[in-house]
Amino acid sequence: TQSVGLVGWRGMVGSVLMQRMRDEGDFNLINPVFFSTSNAGGSAPDWAQGADPLQNAYDIEALKKLPIILTAQGGDYTTEVFPKLRAAGWDGIWIDAASSLRMKDDAIIVLDPVNRGVIDAALAKGVKNFIGGNCTVSCMLMGLAGLFQQDLIEWMTSMTYQAASGGGAKHMRELITQFGLLNASVKPLLDDPASAILEIDRQLLAAQKDDALPQENFGVPLAGNLIPWIDKDLENGQSREEWKAEAETNKILGRGEAFGSDPVRIDGLCVRIGAMRCHSQALTIKLKRDVPLDEITDILKQGTQWAKVVPNTKEASMELLTPVATTGTLDIPVGRLRKMSMGPEYLSAFTVGDQLLWGAAEPLRRMLRIAIG
Ligand code: HSE
Repeated sequence: TQSVGLVGWRGMVGSVLMQRMRDEGDFNLINPVFFSTSNAGGSAPDWAQGADPLQNAYDIEALKKLPIILTAQGGDYTTEVFPKLRAAGWDGIWIDAASSLRMKDDAIIVLDPVNRGVIDAALAKGVKNFIGGNCTVSCMLMGLAGLFQQDLIEWMTSMTYQAASGGGAKHMRELITQFGLLNASVKPLLDDPASAILEIDRQLLAAQKDDALPQENFGVPLAGNLIPWIDKDLENGQSREEWKAEAETNKILGRGEAFGSDPVRIDGLCVRIGAMRCHSQALTIKLKRDVPLDEITDILKQGTQWAKVVPNTKEASMELLTPVATTGTLDIPVGRLRKMSMGPEYLSAFTVGDQLLWGAAEPLRRMLRIAIG
């Protein structure tokens, strides 16, 4: 069994990752070495029987001993430690949830149900850096893989509905706190069936606009609101989250200028909404040809085993095509499939994915399996 250094296993993504690894028996296949940025010398998690005490995650000499390191510690950690480790001559495999190294030429974005060929070719060439993709991109690809495999997409727009968890654990807490405070601000009126709805609305808006409402993580209220901007301003009108859709999708698929081929054009608008941990997206897809809907359904089902086509009915959409229905599962429901009024090559779709599973933890644990052979 190979030793694997684990960094950032206690945070939100790390905790989901550890649970998935336990569920799938991954710890039977590795010798885990737990690192900590804050508690070196402390005890390894109690479920990891027999594991050594925590090692210092900034100790390059300690890290250097591991043939494989898996980190969900975050981008700042990667930026600080990874270059030092490579500069010290470390030649191991680095598997990382953070975006810092994602677009580097010597890094592969891992999503093996979609790009196993790209991963295997990279391993054969000696590539050592394997990075998880952006959550929205990974979830979209897990749903639409079939259409990409058949090269049916001429271009696509993605309008997203992204959950609080994409910001982090503190963002999720802030959203729930906001919900609670807003409810409390109008509770007496709400409890009185005779109260005027416009008075409730007025008081609620006042509470949303009150600086006392906790909002240091999102910057503005998210409860009862939305935020039509995610990540940095690229100063060309586009947010960094919007830029990732085309850049990362093509890199994952091994397409685009860097690979000597035409990229698939993907652009859209990324919006934060008050869901907890599932990112949803509304897609407009320009197909290269008029493919009948029943064929599209088959192609999607064959894309990955996790893509679940939801019938385009009101009942099924409400039951199956929502964050609440999808949270905690590996399913990627794809629904609202129909041809749009612009013509038979224009396909509308809606998809949902748990951004902590396929969007973060799952591609990493699967890459670890591939790396240990
Ligand atoms: N950028 C994503 C979000 C996080 O903010 O939702 C996951 O990559």
